[in-house]
Amino acid sequence: MGTAEAKAAETPVAVSEPGRDSLTITDQRTGRTYEVPIRNGTIRATDLRQIKTDPDDFGLMSYDPAFLNTACCTSRITYIDGEKGILRYRGYPIEELAENCTYLEVAYLLLYGELPNAKQHAEWVHNITWHTMIHESLKKVMDTFNYDAHPMGMLIATVAAMSTFYPDARNVHDKATRTKQTYRLIAKMPTLAAFAYRHSLGMPYVYPDNDLSYTENFLNMLFKMPAARGYRPDPTLVKALDVLFILHADHEQNCGTSVMRSIGSAHADPYSAVAGAAAALYGPLHGGANEEVLRMLQEIGSVSRVPAFIEEVKQGKGEKRLMGFGHRVYKNFDPRATIIKRMAERVFEVTGRNPLLDIALELERIALQDDYFVKRKLYPNVDFYSGLIYQAIGIPTAAFTVLFAIPRTSGWIAQWEELLEDPEEKIARPRQVYLGSGERHFVPMEKR
Ligand code: CMC
Repeated sequence: MGTAEAKAAETPVAVSEPGRDSLTITDQRTGRTYEVPIRNGTIRATDLRQIKTDPDDFGLMSYDPAFLNTACCTSRITYIDGEKGILRYRGYPIEELAENCTYLEVAYLLLYGELPNAKQHAEWVHNITWHTMIHESLKKVMDTFNYDAHPMGMLIATVAAMSTFYPDARNVHDKATRTKQTYRLIAKMPTLAAFAYRHSLGMPYVYPDNDLSYTENFLNMLFKMPAARGYRPDPTLVKALDVLFILHADHEQNCGTSVMRSIGSAHADPYSAVAGAAAALYGPLHGGANEEVLRMLQEIGSVSRVPAFIEEVKQGKGEKRLMGFGHRVYKNFDPRATIIKRMAERVFEVTGRNPLLDIALELERIALQDDYFVKRKLYPNVDFYSGLIYQAIGIPTAAFTVLFAIPRTSGWIAQWEELLEDPEEKIARPRQVYLGSGERHFVPMEKR
């Protein structure tokens, strides 16, 4: 223990002055009182370390499994008010961005803090378009996957493999290098995603087309048949997918993003960090939920079976969940779900109504009236209706989470950039509360 810490441990403070930005803590074990500053509605967990029972004590820590009440960084990118259902990127309400912007404009906003002017936009779109091709050897890496490989597994592996193609990416403290990787990642994710899908069908890959917009190009790479000429995705579907990309672009410190920041804090290259973040997103409680929602709706099969399914979820006591419902932060409604639900109608006018929509609507209607869900503040989240739109567009269920990962890449990189520029940045390293056995001594195998 340093002298400063020892001194702090022995210096009791007793203050009671309303209006001060501080918290006064009395440790009943010792009777000592401490004052710790409050800034931005938080206390610093390290300020608790001065609270000790004796000079050899390690000092008080806070215990917060799953980070229910711990801020791990300051950020200026995304704001969420979970009670009021507010989501803003760089201050702009998500509803306004979804209505008026393209995904690439929003990606620029997340990364650089402002919406681009015409010149910045033209350069940005050019730079992204310029980097959409992937190395032919990376294509060969994709070829090695089994025919039924999950597209998300393929995406995670090939993003990680990209770090071997761009070893300069390791220079994470060089801004120009970081910018280059940013273009590459945002540009190549749709190509990797589309190639993963085509691989699962055993169909030849469709190369990026620089004359198309970001979203059009993605649909083109997914669905164009080599023999058929003139494939042009429907503008309503292009707009719908672009809006879905905007809604998924960032969501502050969720599971995948905190993995991005954790890996980034070790100064790994961004491809490895994005692969890690995407792996977290793959989980069914996170971005993998959109796939699970579809499977659940198919399992229910008809509107008449909805009440029985709801009952099973309630009796399952957490074992069986209503996928696409509930959120760690939103406790009233998920503003992204509201936008998606409205947009679904426009998509179904083009594609025909998805028969699973009636099951989803009935599920939502019953759940929103049921005490179990009301008490726990469980509402439809972004994943509840997005899968129905993906399915209507013709995207197979297994590829849904890939469609989440493509736009989330811009959010991940924005958060990674912010982390690397943060003067408080350090390697992420949580503490633990050790409850295992005390010291014991080795016993040879024959005596165990
Ligand atoms: N269906 C049934 N019960 C649920 C559900 C659900 N979807 N979600 C939470 N609960 C119950 C849970 O069993 C618990 O009940 P009890 O208090 O009796 O033990 C209570 O509600 C609180 O749940 P929790 O797991 O402590 O809540 P959390 O904030 O840790 O989890 C969540 C949030 C999203 C993981 C969870 O709501 C869930 O598993 N939802 C289903 C999966 C899903 O749709 N995930 C997508 C999230 S949005 C996309 C993204 O950003 O990743």
